[in-house]
Amino acid sequence: MLRGTGVPPWVRTMVSQNKRPCPDFMKTVSPRTAKALHYRLMTIKHTPLLKVAIIGCGRPRGAVGATGFGMGHRHMAGYTASGRCELAAVADLSRENAEAFVAAHNPKAAVFADYRKMMREVRPDVVSVCLWPHLHAEVVCAVARLRPRVIVCEKPMDIHWDACLRMDRACRKHGVRLAINHQRRFNLPLLKAKQMIDGGSIGRLVAIEGAWHNLADAGTHVLDLMFYFNGDTPAEWVLGQIDMRGATKVFGAINAGHGLSEFRFQNGVRAVYHFGYQHAELGCLLRLTGEQGVIEILFDAPWLRFRPYGHAGWKVIDTGENIHDDKAIYRGIADILACLDAGTVPQLAAERALRATEIIFATHESSRRRGRVDLPLRPGKCAMLSMLAAGELKAKFST
Ligand SMILES: NC(=O)c1ccc[n+]([C@@H]2O[C@H](COP(=O)([O-])OP(=O)(O)OC[C@H]3O[C@@H](n4cnc5c(N)ncnc54)[C@H](O)[C@@H]3O)[C@@H](O)[C@H]2O)c1
Repeated sequence: MLRGTGVPPWVRTMVSQNKRPCPDFMKTVSPRTAKALHYRLMTIKHTPLLKVAIIGCGRPRGAVGATGFGMGHRHMAGYTASGRCELAAVADLSRENAEAFVAAHNPKAAVFADYRKMMREVRPDVVSVCLWPHLHAEVVCAVARLRPRVIVCEKPMDIHWDACLRMDRACRKHGVRLAINHQRRFNLPLLKAKQMIDGGSIGRLVAIEGAWHNLADAGTHVLDLMFYFNGDTPAEWVLGQIDMRGATKVFGAINAGHGLSEFRFQNGVRAVYHFGYQHAELGCLLRLTGEQGVIEILFDAPWLRFRPYGHAGWKVIDTGENIHDDKAIYRGIADILACLDAGTVPQLAAERALRATEIIFATHESSRRRGRVDLPLRPGKCAMLSMLAAGELKAKFST
């Protein structure tokens, strides 16, 4: 522990997160800080690196052969940036993707086609599941049985509500920390908005509106942010509607082309999420209305603006970062690792992600029932997929 004045807060943070500063860095700090860091570093040096395994390597977005965003590469960059991890193994059905991945991140890492075999032979501490959504629960449940310390799974949790609950339950049962990559909680414009709400800039929060492309893929981020801004308060009920005209398949998962989800948080804050068709007409990704002002997160630069009631115009707030920066992934991973040491709940914990996920499936269920759904939502398959399978709904996919 670094104590006393003269130790900058960022150095304390770095040491508390067990990061290893490079030797050149040591020359830039005061002799007092250097001495304290030296002793701390002795301990860190003898702490073995966490063994990371990636399931689903992909190719970086836009690269030859890419089938998606190659989120595995982005997770790995976060583990590397933490200074606490090294790549031990990867599993991918595509040998080319797996080999390109280890060549980029650690040529000594082992390559597997079968993730179960990888888990048995390598016994990693940390596992990232970067597969398409229909595989998430199945793989997370199988991996949890082999008890890594942490599983970081990509969003959305899964394509069925009962599967999402199952993956959470399996990890709890086996003592594994499950995190879902709703990393936008760590993008600076969103962090700043949260600080402003907590600091009272808009007074008591009363309503949240959001708008984006779809409900389950992009929408899981927006809904998760709504919970973030409202202190992860659970929701009470959901009233929703979906329209399958202009439906899309995103990472293999069907999303309605248009819809609306209204819900109420248990603390009385009201929320509406508009998705798909003409969603951009809301004018912003998120609008946070308080008793004394409004904050907006925009689709484009300037990303964040604020209007206190009684002031004529908007005040633009420049955090120096946009809402898509990969640094959010690195911060999310650093938070997960720090919470692992401290035994605390990370921002990306599955128990938080489940709240936003429940809104997605309750919206589908509300559309099926043509009525309000009181939460908690009972475990079951996705109502939209069930209606499509039964021929009660027909999807007209956008071309
Ligand atoms: N958090 C974000 O902002 C964000 C952004 C984009 C994508 N995502 C999510 O990330 C997830 C992965 O998307 P991506 O773009 O990285 O995919 P991708 O297509 O780039 O990579 C998927 C990889 O999984 C491999 N694979 C498929 N089935 C497998 C199996 N059974 N075992 C092992 N490997 C298998 C494929 O060969 C491929 O290499 C999706 O759920 C997506 O929604 C999240």
